[in-house]
Amino acid sequence: MERKVKPLEWDGEKLTLIDQRKLPHEEVFLSYDSVEGVHSSIKDMVVRGAPLIGFTALYGMVLALMGMESFSKDDVIKAADYLKTARPTAVNLAYEVDRACELVCSQIETKTREDLIKELITFSQEQMDLLEKNNLAMAKLAFDELTSLYGDKKLNLMTLCNTGFLACGPMGTALGVIEYAFGQGRVNHVYASETRPYLQGGRLTAYELSVQGIPHSVTVEGAFSYLMKNKLVDAIFIGADRIVKNGDTANKVGSSTLAIVAKHYGIPFYTVAPTSTFDLSLDTGDQIEIELRPEDEVLGAMGHRISPNSSRALNPSFDVTDHEHLRGIICEKGLIKKITPEEVERVVRG
Ligand code: MRU
Repeated sequence: MERKVKPLEWDGEKLTLIDQRKLPHEEVFLSYDSVEGVHSSIKDMVVRGAPLIGFTALYGMVLALMGMESFSKDDVIKAADYLKTARPTAVNLAYEVDRACELVCSQIETKTREDLIKELITFSQEQMDLLEKNNLAMAKLAFDELTSLYGDKKLNLMTLCNTGFLACGPMGTALGVIEYAFGQGRVNHVYASETRPYLQGGRLTAYELSVQGIPHSVTVEGAFSYLMKNKLVDAIFIGADRIVKNGDTANKVGSSTLAIVAKHYGIPFYTVAPTSTFDLSLDTGDQIEIELRPEDEVLGAMGHRISPNSSRALNPSFDVTDHEHLRGIICEKGLIKKITPEEVERVVRG
């Protein structure tokens, strides 16, 4: 069996990330000692996945503080604003950077730069530990839901994109549910949708499932209907990059199609994400900015051009699943089944 690698490591001076663009066949580690470097690691998807982008950005703020010539509130806010431009859709980036900014700016008059750097490093580690705890809570909630639906039947589960340890720390969100159910002896097979064009499912989820010895098959997005019409899937769990007040959910492109097909065939479909992925400042999914990524990612595959040189591409990296298509949203504070703005707010703030 392969081993679980650490996607992110801080050694007191620099941040080291596994280059997720090279996985699963090459393990390449890249180190960053500046906020600019961290910005590029997020933008170019060396690191990806909403929670991990947030944690990477926290260390980006640490490096920004270390590298500043002067040290004022304005400098800190400028660094935070810069980091937030790396990618627009996953709210975890802005969420963590804003918290780092607040932590530093609220004490800048009374503490030294060195003390604030230390505090921010401790805070970053605490947030990663907390997510680990939250992921376990979400996995247990999902497991209870599966038990209430299917008793102790061994299940065929499906997921899309990548929500495991590479995206979320040691335990995943949606993939954490699958890992946990597998640990309880309740998983028969997992279908991992390959997730064109970046292949987070075919490369990264398949890698994580392999590492953990979980039986799985990679499928193409075009197979959604085949899988469900032929009753090959009992339940679907996906992650989220931003969930707004009415429960509309931005996640990797293809998620909305998957949810619509699942609803058509009556397959339970759940979003699994920590409360840090909720953005209650937005009312509906129409207000979420969807990242458009470079055309080349679609016009070729793994560095090889496929489409004619004259072809153009449209490459939205995410889509929004309307809340009506979700059977439930699972966060560490509970399973939201009646998806209304009031209920989302009650659970998330509760
Ligand atoms: O573009 P990515 O790889 O950063 O996409 C984010 C994701 O991994 C997914 O959308 C995921 O399902 C939610 S984040 C754990």
